[in-house]
Amino acid sequence: MMASLTDLEGRLAGLGLESPFPDIPAANALTKPIDIYRLHLASLIASTLECDVAAAYEAILTATDLTLADLAVVVPKLKPKDVKDIKEFAIELVQKLPTSPLYAVPYPDGVQLRFFFSQKTLPLLMLPYIRERGTTYGEDHAQGLQDPSNPEGGRKKVVVEFSSPNIPGEFKGDHLRSTIIGAFTAKMYECMGWDVVRMNYLGDWGKELALFAVGWEKYGSDEALEADPLEHIMDVFHKIKADFQPESDASKQAKNENKSTAEIEGQGIFAQRDGFFKKLEEKDEDALAFWKKFRDITLARLEPAYARLGVTFDEHSGESQPLQETMAEIEATLTASGVLQESDGSQIINFENHGNKGLGTVIVRARTGSSTYFLRDLAAAVDRERTHAFDKMIYVVASKQNSHFQQVIKTLELLGREDLAKKLQHISFGDITGMAPHLKKTMSLGQMIDECAEIVRSEEAKLEEDGKEEKEDGEEDSGAANGRGDPAAVGGLLSLDLFGKRSHGYAFDKKRMAAEEGDSCRMLQREYAKLVSVIAELREPKAEGEEAGGEDDASPDHAVLQRDESIDLLRMMAQYPDVTAATFKSLEPHGLLSYLSRLAEASAAELDDDEEDGDEDEAGPSSAAAEEETAESRKAKLMLYECVKQVLSHGMNLLGVPPI
Ligand code: ARG
Repeated sequence: MMASLTDLEGRLAGLGLESPFPDIPAANALTKPIDIYRLHLASLIASTLECDVAAAYEAILTATDLTLADLAVVVPKLKPKDVKDIKEFAIELVQKLPTSPLYAVPYPDGVQLRFFFSQKTLPLLMLPYIRERGTTYGEDHAQGLQDPSNPEGGRKKVVVEFSSPNIPGEFKGDHLRSTIIGAFTAKMYECMGWDVVRMNYLGDWGKELALFAVGWEKYGSDEALEADPLEHIMDVFHKIKADFQPESDASKQAKNENKSTAEIEGQGIFAQRDGFFKKLEEKDEDALAFWKKFRDITLARLEPAYARLGVTFDEHSGESQPLQETMAEIEATLTASGVLQESDGSQIINFENHGNKGLGTVIVRARTGSSTYFLRDLAAAVDRERTHAFDKMIYVVASKQNSHFQQVIKTLELLGREDLAKKLQHISFGDITGMAPHLKKTMSLGQMIDECAEIVRSEEAKLEEDGKEEKEDGEEDSGAANGRGDPAAVGGLLSLDLFGKRSHGYAFDKKRMAAEEGDSCRMLQREYAKLVSVIAELREPKAEGEEAGGEDDASPDHAVLQRDESIDLLRMMAQYPDVTAATFKSLEPHGLLSYLSRLAEASAAELDDDEEDGDEDEAGPSSAAAEEETAESRKAKLMLYECVKQVLSHGMNLLGVPPI
């Protein structure tokens, strides 16, 4: 990567730009090429109008619609003095501004001045800029520094907790979304230089596991477990849940009628379940062995499924991990401050007494003496801060649990731990509504991915049959059959999941999964694959004695890039670091997906157009439109395509889209 601003200024001098960059702390020309343009333009405006250069910089916006401009100056933001008609003034400003090698002549549009990058210098600036940064183009590692002015001072640490399925339990839509969005969140933090801990907080402790233990006594079989572990675990779990249903209904009814549930819960499966859980919390050896056996079995089956999604964890934590001592500490503090109250034998917090009526009440410790989900989460936060000394912790959990996390954060404040409360963030998302019927039945992540592969494969087959999408000769069929099943399945799944805002739920829309147009991960995969093969072709020596396009000694002839398709690609790629910065801020993946989809479309347009030129070449010397291809022009194209491939692959990796 280019070491310093001085080096960058040297390169700009070569393009005919003499002035040094103005000093604006918010700008970062070394990671964002758009800032080179903004800084330079801010200087021009400031010296023309004799105004403050920082104010000028703030007045320059990146255009959202590239057909209109690359940058726009919002003229009123320059606060020009003694100006009656601002539009008039904008027109005058166009005439006053000196010409620049970086810009075409701007045009006024109402109160804005719109600027296009100069096509001539754009490739000279952008290609080396991206190539030098390589796989770090789009990243901004300074964001993750404890002290941005001191790179030696260490990085900030974030714990991203995601996926977190239950043992026993189906891998549900919520766990799937948490896995996808959590993996993306972790990558975004890495991209911005943070030290990231990926944590899976398994629901491996509590009443459900205890209920399962009761079921195992009754229905469990080691042979059946051996034959198909997940299937048998779920079978046993469903059976005991059905047995338990009448008791659980009776308890709910009593609660609704404001009656004590003590009697109902003191007998039957209730008592057996709570008895087992109590043994577990008291670290009874047999109970612990049971817990470990089923945790290990489940994890062993989860890991390969996570690998198919390209997801890894640094730590498989779980509800079994929070320390009993930490829980006791927390309860002691809450009791001392009168926050903890007794109600029907349980210890509760009534948030109404603490100015948070909306948060209702929560049980901290059950009547049986066992910990609750809530108490374990409180203790986990405290424990993890001790072991990881994190600067931030993010919970990627469905919006159903919004109030749970508000209660956790509020309680930490009540504990006098505002410092810790401030570090916690809940990133929520909407439900998967209307799961495809066959997906509803699935129990494991592996089965879910299999189903997605099947959906994508059969939708593609349908499209082909309808003749809507004709495959070119020799083009392979996609799908599970030829080993591309997983990337296609994951691409299809991500097309669904990343399509809208996180808060929006979605239904399993088979067409969208298979779609290869619009905002689509399948399209990204297809265009990426095309680039890979075109690049490989360009690297082949063309004629005997001629050097391969990839040989470094051919100097690129940038003239070949002076066409709209190539220039548009460069303009879009210049925006990439701004797109990743905005994505990091919002942690909304859909903006990045649409940006990449537009880039992939532009890449398709470029390659199509280039192919047509090539065909004309073959038509004979009469085709004047097509220029003679030389090693130098091939080199320039190769450089462009490699940059596009680099940006696509970087963005796909952030989203979790595997190449095909
Ligand atoms: N296992 C829980 C569930 O399936 C999600 C855990 C979320 N994380 C947390 N720290 N509470 O609903």
